[in-house]
Amino acid sequence: MIYSFESHTVVVTGSGAGIGRAIALDFAHAGARVAVTDINPLFAQTVAQEIEAFGGLALPAEMDVLNQDQIKQVVQTVTARWGRIDIWINNAGVSSMNHFLDLSEEDWDHNMDINAKGVFCCSQAALRHMVSQKPYPDSGLRGKLVNVASMAGKRGNAPFLAHYVASKFAVVGITQALAGEFASQGITVNAVCPGYVKTAMQDREAVWEAQLRGGDATPNEVRKLYIADTPLGRLETPEDVSAVALFLASPAANFITGEAINVNGGSWMD
Ligand SMILES: NC(=O)c1ccc[n+]([C@@H]2O[C@H](COP(=O)([O-])OP(=O)(O)OC[C@H]3O[C@@H](n4cnc5c(N)ncnc54)[C@H](O)[C@@H]3O)[C@@H](O)[C@H]2O)c1
Repeated sequence: MIYSFESHTVVVTGSGAGIGRAIALDFAHAGARVAVTDINPLFAQTVAQEIEAFGGLALPAEMDVLNQDQIKQVVQTVTARWGRIDIWINNAGVSSMNHFLDLSEEDWDHNMDINAKGVFCCSQAALRHMVSQKPYPDSGLRGKLVNVASMAGKRGNAPFLAHYVASKFAVVGITQALAGEFASQGITVNAVCPGYVKTAMQDREAVWEAQLRGGDATPNEVRKLYIADTPLGRLETPEDVSAVALFLASPAANFITGEAINVNGGSWMD
């Protein structure tokens, strides 16, 4: 592990599976105290147990990113136990797929609510706490926020994903807005933009996309399309994303704010 996050506290949303799980494990391996939060409490407990199994420090918590009471409870519990929240990772997200003309209002709301409004709810709680913390004397920084956006937060041309694209453009937008607003208070706000990451979300999308493309497409053929659209020639791993999230939370990125960094094997470059 390149960085040490010893005596640093991290909250990771949606970290009971997929990319969030990898981020929680990597922070814990790097010495951080990690609040593993997820809408599914069993997922959170399982990842916390994985961390404790190698001697790491973890606190599992049930937290829906839209539930203000649960978010407040996590902030209170984490700060009561560990004193500070140095890093907050807004990772929780959902997707669904459909032709735009068949898209339901429920699908629109579900994606916009969890992916965009969830970042608003959690960032507000995290930042309310961070602005009250003492800055670190060496860096002058009080805290760091990292959002997991998506390649779809920059590239609108994503089949069957108009609503998801809109929600992830919102995440990139709020990343810039908060970076500007909180820079003077010593808080950096950045995002990572993953491409085709091998997780349960992708497994679901490969099935939906095969159906929506019609013909004889299979989920495996859809995955081949994802790889063909990736110049580095393979599916992304959760750890590819986690490495960049940890970089943005590390001292190496102390002077970076308002960035949305692509980590997608070259699928989208800007
Ligand atoms: N998988 C990809 O290809 C990909 C690509 C780009 C961006 N992303 C983004 O990365 C993030 C993680 O995606 P993933 O692929 O690991 O997904 P995943 O479905 O594998 O895991 C998501 C986790 O979030 C939790 N979750 C769902 N709704 C929640 C809520 N309301 N509150 C709290 N937790 C909730 C789930 O229980 C699950 O543990 C998402 O924001 C997603 O949009 C994923």
